[in-house]
Amino acid sequence: MVTQTTNTPKPSANELLKERDPVLGGSIAQTLADPQADHFSEDDAQFLKFHGIYPQDDRDLRKTGKKHMLMVRCRIPGGVLTPAQYLACDALATRYANNTLRVTSRQALQFHGVLKDGLRALVREINEALLSTLAACGDVSRNVMAPPTPALDGLGAQVQDHARQVALALAPRTQAYHSIWIDGVALDLADPANRDFADPLYGRTYLPRKFKIAFAIPPLNDVDILSNCCGFIAISDAGGKLLGYNLTAGGGMGRSHGNTETFPRLADVIGFLPSDKVQDVARAVLTIHRDFSDRSNRKHARLKYVIEERGAEWFRAELEQRVGFKFEAPRPYRFENQGDAFGWNRQADGRLFLGLFVETGRIKDANGRRVKTALREVIAKYQPGIRLTPGNNLILADIAPAQQKEITHLFASYGVETDVERQGGILRRASMACVALPTCGLALAESERYLPDLITRLEGVLAELGLGGQEITIRMTGCPNGCARPYMAEIGFVGKAPGRYQIWLGGNEGSTRLNRLYRDMVKDPDITVELRPLFARYAQERLPAERFGDWVERVLWKEQPPAAN
Ligand code: HEM
Ligand code: SF4
Repeated sequence: MVTQTTNTPKPSANELLKERDPVLGGSIAQTLADPQADHFSEDDAQFLKFHGIYPQDDRDLRKTGKKHMLMVRCRIPGGVLTPAQYLACDALATRYANNTLRVTSRQALQFHGVLKDGLRALVREINEALLSTLAACGDVSRNVMAPPTPALDGLGAQVQDHARQVALALAPRTQAYHSIWIDGVALDLADPANRDFADPLYGRTYLPRKFKIAFAIPPLNDVDILSNCCGFIAISDAGGKLLGYNLTAGGGMGRSHGNTETFPRLADVIGFLPSDKVQDVARAVLTIHRDFSDRSNRKHARLKYVIEERGAEWFRAELEQRVGFKFEAPRPYRFENQGDAFGWNRQADGRLFLGLFVETGRIKDANGRRVKTALREVIAKYQPGIRLTPGNNLILADIAPAQQKEITHLFASYGVETDVERQGGILRRASMACVALPTCGLALAESERYLPDLITRLEGVLAELGLGGQEITIRMTGCPNGCARPYMAEIGFVGKAPGRYQIWLGGNEGSTRLNRLYRDMVKDPDITVELRPLFARYAQERLPAERFGDWVERVLWKEQPPAAN
């Protein structure tokens, strides 16, 4: 009998997989070349994530047999696209995917319903449009977020630049991506250069799990900075000159139902750094995750647990040792609001930008609103800058004032309103839902397909109570992983079983407070029944300008403790 002689925990299966094939090629190229194969092996599914691809199946069709398909995610730092890149993605979604584009809650773009036959052409053509899917998923640094609102002040462009530089510095170096998707051949693992490859930053086994970075410019916290593993809060002087950043570390959303060792966590504010150190610091924070997070248990393999267990002081000391300088105390800052800018707005340079509400992030033609076609027409004709927002909406930037009227008319001719008040009610505009069914293999309940109707019903209840004009942030996910950041919302719905949701209450407007569990396993018609009395009390008891989440914190949580989860 073999006895265990050390206490070193056993590495997870994914760790062994990465160690065996550090270029991350697996047998992807072979499966792509095999016309008989309609899907990838389980091992390849893990490698594919590093290439920005999730094997999925249409869960609506499971009863009649498995329909394999793929989700492909483009990595787009700060959500900035050229018109040509957007138009390429629009055409690719029609040719290779389900004719929709999904703006994600991390400012990326997803293609859904891609079939294996079209996969290589899609990824190759994405690269031809000078975009990439490499490291959009997987155990690496994910899409770096940054405030997308164009040039309201001088800071936006500098912060976007830093986000791009950090994204570039943290990109994995494997050649397998280029080889498989562009050249169409597998890298030879018998070649020592590939067999012995170790990424200069990530090493042979990459990160224990994903790593998320965001930049924010106070007072706007549109990126939910404290929900990220690593965050940079821009600090500027009175004249708007960028002085540096406050570093945040150890935030994260994901949890698992029934496992109290997993939880959402707000990042700690670690200290101030000059802006020329931003790449070094991002790299060093990432290496602490690389070296200290739990490689034996993927549910526990996030930087937030390292910082929770070892403390922010330990983290700062470890980081200072790695970067070779001491952080100054955090500089004062204040987050006052979150959310995206909608409608027509003026940029500092006199040009205009248009914030367009995209319901649940899905760009499509449906229900008399031909959003996909309208965007294609407007972007082809007027060539505006494109920004994807953290609230999974879209901004068209750098528009000459003289074009405002024509663009408004062109959108209207496709049933798309540009006036902020007509783009969807105040509740809807502030809502987010993750994808969930039918594509996400982890979904326990509906989200994207369900939230719009629930919002309509909640709008009805709020209007009856005289709260029709009140913004309340509402976010829904189909499982506790938290892709739409539900634990930062004033009301978060988290799927637990088909038609059953947890209700989480009490986030705030600046997105600096986690909400807490109010009710477990609430079934569909009871959601409004549960919320109505709370809304009624809020209408009666609220202080001037008090938001629902703040009333929950001030009154509800004083009367009753949050539920156990
Ligand atoms: C903790 C475990 C998590 C797992 C296993 C996971 C897995 C997934 C999967 C499978 C999808 C694809 C769904 C589809 O498009 O069909 C997805 C989407 C997405 N996830 Fe996660 N996720 C996790 C947590 C998070 C968190 C905490 C965030 C960010 C706060 C996040 C951000 C996203 C984004 C931006 C998308 C794209 C679609 C959208 O915007 O809803 N994920 N995730
Ligand atoms: S929150 Fe869950 S259900 Fe929704 S997309 Fe993420 S993993 Fe899928």
